[in-house]
Amino acid sequence: MAGVASRRAAEELIVAGEVKVNGNVVTDLATKVHTINDTVTVNGKRASVAYNLIYILLHKPKDYITTVRDEKGRRTVMQLVNVRERIYPVGRLDRNTSGVLLLTNDGDLANKLMHPSSEVIKSYHVTLDKSLDEAHAQKLVNGVYLEDGKTAPCELDIIPGTKAKNVVLHIHEGKNRQVRRMFESLGYEIEKLHRTEYAGLTLSGLGRGRWRFLNEKEVKGLRRVAGLLTN
Ligand code: URA
Repeated sequence: MAGVASRRAAEELIVAGEVKVNGNVVTDLATKVHTINDTVTVNGKRASVAYNLIYILLHKPKDYITTVRDEKGRRTVMQLVNVRERIYPVGRLDRNTSGVLLLTNDGDLANKLMHPSSEVIKSYHVTLDKSLDEAHAQKLVNGVYLEDGKTAPCELDIIPGTKAKNVVLHIHEGKNRQVRRMFESLGYEIEKLHRTEYAGLTLSGLGRGRWRFLNEKEVKGLRRVAGLLTN
């Protein structure tokens, strides 16, 4: 892939002890090299592979889990996205939550987006088992007490014509199962949870289980949110 030799000739170079990984000679052809973290040299010269950074927006359906691999054999979001690059999800959505999920192999951007200091805005359409009381709505906006601390102030819109059973919650934190726990703390059950927005990205017509690459402008927007771009 680095354009040094054909696969066959590369194997000969390896067996002949001409190839080092992170400064150590390797002769085992099964040695795995990670293109981002490992340095490969051939006859003392660095062999570099152009590494393709990719950014994907997936409309996660219910009943898929947000993990790269599941030892119990359940369906994972990775099965919906067939690309050659080794990508992983940015944060997680519960098995029964649907909606916007980003996947990338850009570890730097992913870590920055997941870090609390980035305060990435996430919006969730919540369908409740009963109408949301006005006083409870105010409590959610001001912050509620969960076992791992009080939630930060957030925004809440009640969807007209739904008897306050459907609301949109905009939060910038990412505590585990945060939205479900916020409503449960006030005695509500969530019947349906759907993430409509992540850092300004929406599904806009992307069908359930479908995915697309982000365009350059969208990636730039994410880099800005993550504090990796200043202008
Ligand atoms: N909050 C939750 O409770 N579940 C999710 O999947 C995402 C946010």
